[in-house]
Amino acid sequence: MKVVLPGGTGQVGTILDRALTAAGHEVTVLTRRPRRARQIGWDGITLGPWAEAIDGCDVVVNLAGRSVSCRYTPANLRAMMDSRVDSARVVGEAIAVAARPPRVWLQMSTATIYAHRFDAAHDEATGAIGGCEPDVPDYWAYSVQIAENWERAQREAPTPATRKVSLRAAMVMSPDHGGVFDVLLGLARLGLGGPVAGGAQYVSWIHDEDFVRAVAFLVDREDIDGPVNLASPGPLPHREFMRTLRAAWGVPVGLPATRWMAELGAFVFRSDTELLLKSRRVTPGRLREAGFTFTHPTWDSAAMDLVQRMPGRPR
Ligand SMILES: NC(=O)c1ccc[n+]([C@@H]2O[C@H](COP(=O)([O-])OP(=O)(O)OC[C@H]3O[C@@H](n4cnc5c(N)ncnc54)[C@H](OP(=O)(O)O)[C@@H]3O)[C@@H](O)[C@H]2O)c1
Repeated sequence: MKVVLPGGTGQVGTILDRALTAAGHEVTVLTRRPRRARQIGWDGITLGPWAEAIDGCDVVVNLAGRSVSCRYTPANLRAMMDSRVDSARVVGEAIAVAARPPRVWLQMSTATIYAHRFDAAHDEATGAIGGCEPDVPDYWAYSVQIAENWERAQREAPTPATRKVSLRAAMVMSPDHGGVFDVLLGLARLGLGGPVAGGAQYVSWIHDEDFVRAVAFLVDREDIDGPVNLASPGPLPHREFMRTLRAAWGVPVGLPATRWMAELGAFVFRSDTELLLKSRRVTPGRLREAGFTFTHPTWDSAAMDLVQRMPGRPR
């Protein structure tokens, strides 16, 4: 297949590019700073010569968006919103004008679209969209709004010949340098991998191999469109998630952190506590109904596998 990955230079793009190229597919990446073969320049806002890459391709997986690993200042929140909505809109425009449109457009979305919740898991049919939860900081609603606008930009694109799927992805865990697993493991190895703010908040995650397999599954399944949760069936409370991670690497202790310590840490690391404190309890309802099976359905199995693939891993 010919696959185009707008925003394919980041963590998820690297995972997909590597796996799809290894499987023999022809992958083209759209980036604001092309540096290598198979990379084409675009700005993520306006149609340009890059759109020729989409005309005649089989699959588009749009991953573009300003990183969420930043301080949630008004300017950064606006950039997170605009980069996602604009890139989804312009990918839709490129597909709409293509003489030979792709058969499927997978658009990255996020599991963050669902409400902060502890008591039950969100699947696509019964899950509650967030934004109105009591007792959470007001700005958390903005992240939900970003996800909703992002999905709307895809839904409203006039691309009748192209099937559209939005990927409500949980954190994608891979051993890549700088990825979310690398960061969490780094904290655990420093002894900082204890529960944060009590650790009752749920962590949803998906192993990189299952993420790639789910993407391939959704490309093949002509009968599936709309939102699909890409999360393992085993989300778990943060305190258990970190305990399992520590055990996988052999770290004996993890200092607990209070909410204000997390605020301080997030400030130092130029990040935001929403990423740590929001309870994301999301399960893969539609994937399971469609018969998808996970290679790593539990965090124990996934964490052990990921640790074994890390450089400098313990024996
Ligand atoms: N990583 C996860 O676990 C996860 C989970 C759920 C959802 N997501 C979402 O999935 C997408 C990909 O995730 P990722 O972790 O690969 O993100 P990433 O590492 O931050 O990469 C995203 C890519 O988007 C491009 N980009 C950044 N700002 C842009 C802008 N203003 N306009 C156009 N393109 C821009 C960048 O490419 P260039 O600089 O080369 O142009 C960057 O490499 C993101 O939208 C993210 O929110 C990720």
